[in-house]
Amino acid sequence: MTTRIVLSSDHAAIDLRQAVAAHAEKAGFEVVDIGPTTPESTHYPKHGQAAAQRVASGDCTLGIILCGTGQGIMMAANKVKGIRCGVCSDTFSAAMIRQHNDANMLALGARVVGEGLALEIVDAFLGATFEGGRHGTRVDMIEAV
Ligand code: RB5
Repeated sequence: MTTRIVLSSDHAAIDLRQAVAAHAEKAGFEVVDIGPTTPESTHYPKHGQAAAQRVASGDCTLGIILCGTGQGIMMAANKVKGIRCGVCSDTFSAAMIRQHNDANMLALGARVVGEGLALEIVDAFLGATFEGGRHGTRVDMIEAV
């Protein structure tokens, strides 16, 4: 079955979000891009929350969210129960947050990483799988906080 991933961003990351969407679709993922599509200044918390709710509800399996640094939108997404989102600027961390932390969302900073690296980070995140075992115990502990 095709993995369905939700994408969202604020105004600072529209171009990179669209590049990520095209890249993920080309790689065979079903992309649900919930915008925004116009460049006016907007508020990253609402876009982070909207994407997180798509994942938390089960409508999408994974999410990729972007803002200038990735930090603000990640903080908002992590307020939604069941969301484990990490900001990554390197491919090692992007794979590890899936393998060890069972992250269901990735945040990227469009003012931090260039498009080439961002797409490699996306590949590392989408290509990794949760290892379970002792990591499952720890993820359960995160959920219990
Ligand atoms: C917008 O200027 C900027 O604050 C936002 O994109 C993000 O970097 C916040 O964390």
